Amino acid sequence: QPALSKPAPIKPASDPAVIEEAVAILKAGGLVAMPTETVYGLAADAGNADAVARLYAAKGRPRFNPLIAHVAGPNMAWRLAGWPDLADQLAESFWPGPLTLVLPKRPDAPIADIANAGLDSIALRAPRHAAAQALIRAFDGPLVAPSANPSGAVSPTTAAHVAEGLGDRIDLILDGGACPVGLESTVIALLGGTPTLLRPGGLARRQIEAITGRLADAGDGEALLAPGMMKSHYAPNAAMRLGAETAQPGEVLLGFGTISGDLNLSETGDLAEAATGLFAALRTLDARGATRIAVAPIPDEGLGEAINDRLQRAAAPKDDLI
Ligand code: TXA
Ligand code: MG
Repeated sequence: QPALSKPAPIKPASDPAVIEEAVAILKAGGLVAMPTETVYGLAADAGNADAVARLYAAKGRPRFNPLIAHVAGPNMAWRLAGWPDLADQLAESFWPGPLTLVLPKRPDAPIADIANAGLDSIALRAPRHAAAQALIRAFDGPLVAPSANPSGAVSPTTAAHVAEGLGDRIDLILDGGACPVGLESTVIALLGGTPTLLRPGGLARRQIEAITGRLADAGDGEALLAPGMMKSHYAPNAAMRLGAETAQPGEVLLGFGTISGDLNLSETGDLAEAATGLFAALRTLDARGATRIAVAPIPDEGLGEAINDRLQRAAAPKDDLI
């Protein structure tokens, strides 16, 4: 693990001089945490194999788990990947935003092989957050960026979360405030067959299906799996029990709607609000020393699908972690 002598500074992403400093670090092969509308990402130059290797090491991420290349928009994307009409339609509707498209990687794409784990495909996303857009445009090329947390831990939604998990292993943290979406992007594969949902996320399935028609599910028949979708992931230290109407002795209750709990994800039962605060809530309960977290039922519609996916991974036995 590359250990730097002192913790990475945290600087305001809204300062153009800070963006210039971040670009210089990235051009030199360094690692910069950047805010996006979903979660904070740990950015590296997608074309620099050494920088990308450093990124995998900093996260403790297995190298078979490919990264998302972040682009400013379609103009940068179609130089990197085969770009079907459907990609155009989806980008038109949802980019910049919380949607990642897995597409055939162009052989001449300026992306190191290690960045997409040597696959024939590449995951692309144009983030909506102004700081991420500013950084990618100033860098003038694709940046790979996994969530800025140690592999297997809960994704960071503030600069302070990044500092806690990775501060001593990276070069700079750009502070752009709390992430408004709060869940990682929805990942879909457009590789020729039926478009496939690889990871539910911050864009609800039904919005995508309005354009693509019914998405196949990863795990259905021949559908491919996202290599990074381990069963246990996004895991707090505490043990988790889902679908709880009340707390049992020794549990703290994470509430939703009318099940108020010790902490409530959304008193009005709003799924977008629950998504925004989910990861911070898990961290808060962990920090309070909770050893058992019970979670109120979350409806499985809209963003609830992604919330329940993350909760199920958080609840999975930790020895499933690769
Ligand atoms: O919202 C997000 O997507 C955040 C922000 C920073 O953009 N990024 C993020 O990256 O969540 P990461 O690395 O934590 O998750 C990327 C997911 C993993 O499940 C990975 O396996 C999958 O995308 N993925 C990446 N490239 C792929 C490929 N070529 N084929 C299939 N799955 C891929
Ligand atoms: Mg992640």
